[in-house]
Amino acid sequence: MAMNIVGVVGAGAMGTGIAQVAATAGHKVLIYDPYPEALVRSQLSLKDNLQFLESKGKISGAEAILDRVQPQDELAGLQSCDLIIEAIVEKEEVKKQLFAELENIVSDACILATNTSSLSVTSLASACQRPERFLGLQFFNPAPRMPLVEVIGAIHTDSARVKEAASLMAAWGKTPVLAKDSPGFIVNRVARPFYGEALRMLEEGFADIPTIDWAMETLGGFPMGPFKLMDYIGHDVNYVVTETVFRAMYYDRRYMPSLTQLRLLDAGWLGRKSQRGFYDYRPEAPIVTATEDEEKGQQILDRILIMLINEAVDALFMGVATAEDLDLAMTKGVRYPKGLIQWAREIGPKKVLEKLDALQQTTHDDRYRASPLLRQWAHGSVSL
Ligand SMILES: NC(=O)c1ccc[n+]([C@@H]2O[C@H](COP(=O)([O-])OP(=O)(O)OC[C@H]3O[C@@H](n4cnc5c(N)ncnc54)[C@H](O)[C@@H]3O)[C@@H](O)[C@H]2O)c1
Repeated sequence: MAMNIVGVVGAGAMGTGIAQVAATAGHKVLIYDPYPEALVRSQLSLKDNLQFLESKGKISGAEAILDRVQPQDELAGLQSCDLIIEAIVEKEEVKKQLFAELENIVSDACILATNTSSLSVTSLASACQRPERFLGLQFFNPAPRMPLVEVIGAIHTDSARVKEAASLMAAWGKTPVLAKDSPGFIVNRVARPFYGEALRMLEEGFADIPTIDWAMETLGGFPMGPFKLMDYIGHDVNYVVTETVFRAMYYDRRYMPSLTQLRLLDAGWLGRKSQRGFYDYRPEAPIVTATEDEEKGQQILDRILIMLINEAVDALFMGVATAEDLDLAMTKGVRYPKGLIQWAREIGPKKVLEKLDALQQTTHDDRYRASPLLRQWAHGSVSL
């Protein structure tokens, strides 16, 4: 079916970015937010972004793109949409109520999508009278720059709608991957050890903050070390995602949140946005430096990397996504230097397993248990 008019609900960071992507792809976009000031801010930020991109020669026709985005002050204004993407507050009841209202406004053919990063798509779909047209489209921040979109079907969703949505994302120049409706989907699940294991090493006194960041950036090739990244995302967001995944995974120790991070949240040290987090961003703050001990750095990288690989292999084992989509998700969604399954192929699954088993034996901690699939792969009974 033709998807000409795209609706966006929620004119915050994600909604505005998604509106920009859809309008740049040629769609008329109707964007709604109950707060008029949010709509004004969104239009201003869209204008700035589009003009900047045009001045750099990255797009042409900024004004025409902007004209295609039409703010709506009533939800009913979204009546003519063929696809609506919701990007409002991350609260299940508020989202459910919105979708129930939307269904009374739009045609039966309109596809309804949520940009949720942590809620169950199936649970949101259950609020709809026609859940077969409901799915998840998770963009990453900032949506115009990050290529990945996770496409998530609810258990009710018609598979034809999932395919259609994935093709549309590809037509928008995005990299769609298909993810099972499971806690954290792909990226927010597989990336958990990047933060969790770094926090663990800090708490154990194994290494300090700048040294862990240095090892992951310089030796691992990650665009940002875990502590810098947590400060950038904000501990209010990052901690809550970890806690949500932990709870949704029935308190599996692999996803256990960290008290150290909770204390930062308690203190209101949310990271860059409050000028303090793991680092001190105030102008008068002293500069901190890493130890830059290569041998130590390699131990740090190894420990985080084997945990990431184990998580990716386990996500494959649990049918969250294909190996190809898992690798695409981590390289396109969070700019990992390499897909984790590919990385494991290069290191060799046997070596990864040996290191994990050694950690589990020394700590007796279930967080280090190897995925059954990693074990089978290491023993040669499957090949990935
Ligand atoms: N920020 C990220 O990195 C990121 C990444 C992926 C997904 N998400 C998800 O995207 C969604 C939006 O996140 P954000 O960062 O853009 O939040 P945001 O706070 O920047 O924007 C949310 C907007 O929704 C509006 N809103 C609130 N309640 C509403 C309602 N009932 N109806 C319509 N609009 C309403 C608010 O006025 C605000 O403008 C969340 O579900 C979040 O989990 C965020």
